[in-house]
Amino acid sequence: MAKKIVLSGARPTGDIHLGNYFGALENWVQLQDRYDCYFFIADWHALTTGYAETDQLQDHCLSLMADFMACGLDPEKSVIFKQSLIMEHAELFLLFAMTTPLPWLERCPTYKDQINQLKNKDITTYGFLGYPCLQAADILIYKADYVPVGEDQLPHLELAREIARRFNYLYGPVFPEPQPLLTQAKTLPGTDGRKMSKSYENTVSFADSPEEVKSKVMNMITDPARIRKTDPGHPEICTVYAFHHVFNQEEWEAIGSSCRKGEIGCVQCKRKLQEKLLAFHQPIYEKRTRLLQSPDHLLALIEDGSARARVQARETLSQARTAMKIAP
Ligand code: TRP
Ligand code: SF4
Repeated sequence: MAKKIVLSGARPTGDIHLGNYFGALENWVQLQDRYDCYFFIADWHALTTGYAETDQLQDHCLSLMADFMACGLDPEKSVIFKQSLIMEHAELFLLFAMTTPLPWLERCPTYKDQINQLKNKDITTYGFLGYPCLQAADILIYKADYVPVGEDQLPHLELAREIARRFNYLYGPVFPEPQPLLTQAKTLPGTDGRKMSKSYENTVSFADSPEEVKSKVMNMITDPARIRKTDPGHPEICTVYAFHHVFNQEEWEAIGSSCRKGEIGCVQCKRKLQEKLLAFHQPIYEKRTRLLQSPDHLLALIEDGSARARVQARETLSQARTAMKIAP
């Protein structure tokens, strides 16, 4: 029996950090063996909010490819490609733009949120409003069954289903309705205890050297009530403790009770975390660094994956054109 199809994408906005890893990539890596997977670099999506800063876009695409592979995505198992190399996404986007009622886009919760949040950018553009339509094209052009996404992306997936349904109703059945695969992400805060996010400057990224990782751990906020080692601590409000939960599961409980009893000092606790975190981080960092030393090889892999994706994209687009009676 044919495997079900999974598709997901990420914007090339800079370096992948641990929050992105546990929120998405870790899960994608697991899915590779069970499904026919498509993973892509969403560079056109990056333009919806970043159209004015394109100088680094291509570099970011390369480093995202390196991050993908260093984290365990395998171009032999999955089709890994770059959106802008597949013109067919743009044509399907255009066709969907014809059939998608404007209010569907205007009422999308992320639309108003982002307009309010990104006050320093002018994103009152046609492209930004239409981006869920582009996202629907990304998904439906591969007839994806499942889309692994975080909660925040659910409205977009709902919209993709509505767009598919409307197309099928108007022209005949071409598109299956994609379902979400909700990621039960491990919760890892940023180094300051808030949500890990590039805009808060509290990330640990795979581009950080081992020295940087160590110093980020040393600078983490701990329980402010602890001045001396013997002061009883409250590990549940401590970022170091939250990291131990993810990277040092075996000792997590013991560390919590030593902290509460004032038997372990914060510096000692951080040293332990440095060691455990680096055991996870360093191999990925080194693989990423090695991959980025051969940009031509990375480009060739992206080209190759994109050629494979294009075959499927062409096939679906031709079905859509035929259904709409615009095929020759
Ligand atoms: N919108 C997603 C993001 O900003 C990226 C994305 C684009 C995507 N197209 C997609 C994700 C299709 C899943 C499926 O992260
Ligand atoms: Fe945090 Fe560890 Fe210090 Fe306790 S001992 S406050 S868990 S760093």
